[in-house]
Amino acid sequence: MVNKRLIISSLLSLVFLLTSFVSSAQVSVESGKQLFKANCAQCHNRNMKDNLTGPALGGVSERWSGREELLYSWIRNSQAVVASGDPYAVDMYNTWNKVLMNPFPNLTDDEIGSILAYVEAVYTGTEGGPVAAGDAVAVVEQPKTNYTLIYGVLALLLALIALILARIVGNLDHMHKVAAGDTEAARPSIRQILTSKSVIAFVIFAVIVLGGYTTVNSAISWGRQQNYQPEQPIKFSHVTHAGVHKIDCQYCHDGARRSKHSIIPAANTCMNCHRAIKKGSTYGTAELTKIFASVGYDPTTDSYIENYDKMATEDIEAIYKKWISDSYIADKELASLDAKGEKAVKDQWNNLVSALTSEHDPKIGGPIEWNRIHNLPDHVYFNHAQHVTVGKLDCQQCHGKVEEMPVVKQYATLSMGWCINCHRETEVKFKDNDYYKSYEKYHQELASGKRDKVTVEDIGGTECQKCHY
Ligand code: HEC
Ligand code: HEC
Ligand code: HEC
Ligand code: HEC
Ligand code: HEC
Ligand code: HEC
Repeated sequence: MVNKRLIISSLLSLVFLLTSFVSSAQVSVESGKQLFKANCAQCHNRNMKDNLTGPALGGVSERWSGREELLYSWIRNSQAVVASGDPYAVDMYNTWNKVLMNPFPNLTDDEIGSILAYVEAVYTGTEGGPVAAGDAVAVVEQPKTNYTLIYGVLALLLALIALILARIVGNLDHMHKVAAGDTEAARPSIRQILTSKSVIAFVIFAVIVLGGYTTVNSAISWGRQQNYQPEQPIKFSHVTHAGVHKIDCQYCHDGARRSKHSIIPAANTCMNCHRAIKKGSTYGTAELTKIFASVGYDPTTDSYIENYDKMATEDIEAIYKKWISDSYIADKELASLDAKGEKAVKDQWNNLVSALTSEHDPKIGGPIEWNRIHNLPDHVYFNHAQHVTVGKLDCQQCHGKVEEMPVVKQYATLSMGWCINCHRETEVKFKDNDYYKSYEKYHQELASGKRDKVTVEDIGGTECQKCHY
């Protein structure tokens, strides 16, 4: 009898375990979009229809249909697939002049599935809506269902079934004993069932599984945030600007000293210098022309274009293609625009368009859409001025050596523990700071030698409401 209960209870646990894991599959067009932007967009056109450094990805699932596994391997390591001698892969690699595609060994199946779903959604114009079944999509977007509710109801249902089964087993047990001549035997009450060892064991087990699952899940998402390093629409390098040319962080991020946000500089700030520096030593016209096209500056005539926001794309294209091709000639890199030169200009223009436009805003011009890296949840209050101006902290204490990062990455975890640890350890710069005048008690204690330092914690830096709205 006891064995039966054990079996039922373990079966239920198994079902429970399985459902928790099924719910963790996360393939979505939205996350595919972020992943594509961060990893693929610098080489694959965002419209999925035109070529860029790499081929247009639209329809790719169909081209690899029946060989999905190989497609996933290709994305993780294209060279391995070429090396395996697969004719399609070898042929494509040769057609693309043996340009290497980056390997992405860390992308999970779900992440690749999301990217492919996004590719097809843009290609078929169904992005935003659900992807229709039957479309050539390797993995279809999951409809936005309230899984918490479904699993809650399911869990309740299972608990009910478990109770009923336990009751039946109890009754059978009772009948068995009566049949055996034990007239004293009592039927187990609901209460007895609920407090029986196997039920309690199951509840504890379920709590542990659920707790473990959420902990692991959030640990993973923390891990993803730290070191987050998306590609940006313009190859802006902090090494060049803050490192080599020693431009002060606050020249560009002038919000840090006076407001909550540090603020990413507008393209006009870039123009302070790049009106004069029109061609870079690394990328030539390729990257800086993006700044000009975003603000409507014509580098050929050194003037801002009138009514730029109303201008047709073809006219904009003519202006910047002229600038790009003229610079090539001036460079004598390509004495005349032969077929190869023409392709280079076209590639640069396509690259520019893909960096400055999105499916939602196909217009060139307007603010550059930098990919945001640091992002605290909405319920947390963080203020730069408080830390930079009042606390007199260096940017690097929280952001690492940004001046050595060609592409910025998130240096700290931005977890609650990170904030609080620093508040516990950091001494407030109490002397010569008017901001702290009101803390008379601490000033007296410092003067009398009763205390040797005041930490951020001492002035209330670990109180919940200081950081939470
Ligand atoms: C550095 C440029 C570059 C990056 C970044 C890049 N690719 Fe590629 N990709 C290429 C090139 C070039 C090819 C053509 C084959 C070759 O030369 O290796 C290609 C080919 C492909 C193909 C095969 C296309 C077909 O028609 O069969 C797929 C699929 C693909 N890339 C997916 C991706 C995904 C997904 C990402 C982002 C996770 C990505 N690529 C990032 C350059 C890149
Ligand atoms: C010439 C202007 C300029 C200077 C100087 C500059 N930055 Fe930046 N910074 C930018 C731009 C543009 C971005 C957005 C693109 C990017 O992430 O690379 C940015 C992004 C950042 C980010 C990431 C923002 C996010 O999305 O979360 C941090 C952090 C940062 N800068 C810190 C610094 C620090 C620290 C210094 C000084 C060592 C510095 N910056 C100097 C222009 C500048
Ligand atoms: C205070 C002056 C200054 C400001 C402001 C400035 N830059 Fe620069 N930038 C430079 C200098 C100097 C170089 C190095 C030029 C070279 O030798 O290639 C440079 C180089 C670059 C390059 C590399 C070009 C290449 O091909 O090597 C890019 C891209 C760039 N800047 C983008 C930006 C962006 C975007 C902004 C605005 C967020 C910006 N810059 C603001 C001074 C500035
Ligand atoms: C005490 C730690 C700390 C210091 C010091 C600090 N930052 Fe930040 N910074 C953060 C945090 C936390 C965020 C994320 C804010 C958010 O998501 O609201 C951030 C975000 C940013 C961003 C993204 C835009 C924004 O404001 O959300 C930029 C740019 C930035 N910091 C630049 C700087 C610069 C430049 C300095 C130095 C002048 C600096 N930071 C000093 C912690 C710090
Ligand atoms: C590198 C150390 C450091 C880190 C990391 C840090 N802080 Fe601070 N924080 C300080 C210092 C120093 C002060 C003191 C400035 C002052 O007197 O207000 C301060 C003050 C504050 C205050 C004002 C406290 C008060 O009593 O007035 C708030 C709110 C705050 N921090 C929030 C945050 C949040 C949120 C984070 C994490 C996202 C964070 N801090 C991370 C060093 C840090
Ligand atoms: C110094 C700033 C600071 C203080 C003080 C602080 N928190 Fe937080 N808290 C944070 C930050 C930052 C996060 C976001 C962490 C993340 O996104 O991983 C957070 C997240 C949370 C969360 C959400 C959990 C999560 O993982 O997102 C809860 C709940 C919370 N805090 C409660 C509290 C309580 C209760 C207190 C008082 C005992 C407190 N906090 C004090 C900075 C602070």
